[in-house]
Amino acid sequence: MLQRFMTRGSSSTRRSFLRNGLAAPGVIGTALITEQHLQSAAFAASGLTSGDASILRFLSALEILETDLWQQYNELGGIQDAEVPGGSGSKPYTRALSELDADMPQYIHDNTEDEFTHFNFINAYLVAKGAAPANLDQFRTLQGSTATGAQNVNRLTNLMQLTVDTSWWTRYRSRTKNPDFADTFPQAIPGLIQGKFPAIPRSDADLTPRTHLQAIANTAAFHFGTIEQGGTSIYPSLAQRVSSVEVLRILLSIGPTEALHFQVWHDKAGNAPAVTDPTNGLVFPDLSKPPFAGNEDLQANLIMPEPTVFLSSTFPVCSIVRPTETQGAAMGAVRFLSAMGLFTGQSDGFFAELNALATQADLAQRTI
Ligand SMILES: [Fe+2]
Repeated sequence: MLQRFMTRGSSSTRRSFLRNGLAAPGVIGTALITEQHLQSAAFAASGLTSGDASILRFLSALEILETDLWQQYNELGGIQDAEVPGGSGSKPYTRALSELDADMPQYIHDNTEDEFTHFNFINAYLVAKGAAPANLDQFRTLQGSTATGAQNVNRLTNLMQLTVDTSWWTRYRSRTKNPDFADTFPQAIPGLIQGKFPAIPRSDADLTPRTHLQAIANTAAFHFGTIEQGGTSIYPSLAQRVSSVEVLRILLSIGPTEALHFQVWHDKAGNAPAVTDPTNGLVFPDLSKPPFAGNEDLQANLIMPEPTVFLSSTFPVCSIVRPTETQGAAMGAVRFLSAMGLFTGQSDGFFAELNALATQADLAQRTI
């Protein structure tokens, strides 16, 4: 439906554009007039280029997905209140999360509320500019947790079979490598990428034994960092291709809040207690001992970015967000989220919609 809206919208604006004679030969060289120029110029008349609309719509979709997953965390392990309603909490799961920091429920609550505001704002801005907002409601089909404390509503995302990539841990500690140079990075918790693990209790059966529930809470803590480092990268990556200064301001103002989240979760993950899950063998090593202690690539309290190579190895190293390559960034984000199992059980229609939104965002170019 979104695709139809976009196609219909652009062809009708193109017709009125031509009818008004703005594209007459001599005013703009016809050889230079491409489909994209026509669309961009037409949308610019209402204040938003088609590229800017595509980037904002894709980011809004990502924020809707983030909200859905954070909502599930908040229902069981956060604070359920008027700001973030839904669910009634799981005392055992909240206790296990609090092993990492007594403030975990507050941080989960605040992260969840932030994501709500991100997609609400971006969608409202799109509508105000006459562009279609993102809407994934038709894909809320997944069964969520049945543990006491979770709402019995259908979800967009699946937190119960995650394969969590924790290479951001070493990526942000490296002083010589950068993913934008195709460098790769070792995992902090190798076990998390070698299977499928729940990050929330799937049912009350997951509340015992204690070590199993602690492994679930630890998985969540590392997943928080994995999600928010992605948000930290996607905003600067896409900001490089927006045209309007106001849209740039939106991306530059929301993006750093993802970095604020990431910084907190990076710190909290370093407090994950050593535990081996007796039900599946997942190992969380002792982060206060070697190889984590005494090794700069793994040391648990090195939570600020180490400087590394940026743009060219001829420049001095720089402390930066990484990656920030813009080409293919939107599809890269979709592949990353899909590979972690976040959409396990989703329909073909869901993936088609998400791929279409990402493809449109990746086609966007700066026009001014
Ligand atoms: Fe967000």
